[in-house]
Amino acid sequence: MNKDLRKVVIAGNWKMNKTPEEAKKLIEEIKPLVKDAKCEVVTCVPFVDLTTVLEATKGSNIKVGAQNCHWEEKGAFTGEISAPMLKSMNVEYVIIGHSERRQYFGETDITVNKRVKAALANGLKVIICVGESLEQREQGVTCELVAMQTKIALNGVSADDMKNVIIAYEPIWAIGTGKTATAEQANEVNHAIRETIAQVYGKAVADALTIQYGGSMNAGNAEELLAQPDVDGGLIGGASLKPADFAKIVEAASK
Ligand code: 13P
Repeated sequence: MNKDLRKVVIAGNWKMNKTPEEAKKLIEEIKPLVKDAKCEVVTCVPFVDLTTVLEATKGSNIKVGAQNCHWEEKGAFTGEISAPMLKSMNVEYVIIGHSERRQYFGETDITVNKRVKAALANGLKVIICVGESLEQREQGVTCELVAMQTKIALNGVSADDMKNVIIAYEPIWAIGTGKTATAEQANEVNHAIRETIAQVYGKAVADALTIQYGGSMNAGNAEELLAQPDVDGGLIGGASLKPADFAKIVEAASK
């Protein structure tokens, strides 16, 4: 596997944190700390923060993402935001299928697939989240489960569109728990995802795909995780709200 073939991407997922005013302050703190990054730096912020964060990141190396989008372009879907709406604001990325959406908001592999297709059709880059629960890990089905989630999420996505896809492996038991997958566990599952992609799209697409790890990645463990051959970046929750910690992760990814 040749890591040079793919982009390393560190993405912060702010989840449901920060008012626009707080978001501006946080971005202003993060900006100087990551300006020399040799990896791609993304912050995925709440919808109401997008305008502020897009403005605050102008001219910087920080890209901006949303945390979800609907699959229809417009219509009677109260409370939803569409892909063309995000695109019209110059949002570049969108997270799709985060386990918190699967767990609390009825997201399924099928709706993940619909959202992915809509986002890609509207020129957005997607970060698709997959990952197992503790129970599923203990049952020994992690790699099959993650392969299935990946295949369904990408059903109908062309090889050409894969250049706008990132997969984030996020074991549910590691999210917000302070429990991190070991570097070996992260690499094993990321490798299984890459094999799945190779089966569907061929080796060239698989080798070029950025596959992140997420789940309690922090300033202390990032370097070891990111040194793994199949870990091409991170999707960072808690630590992305702490400028110095986030910067350390970006630094680890820039090595
Ligand atoms: P934590 O880094 O807080 O565990 O969250 C990970 C995550 O869910 C990122 O999407």
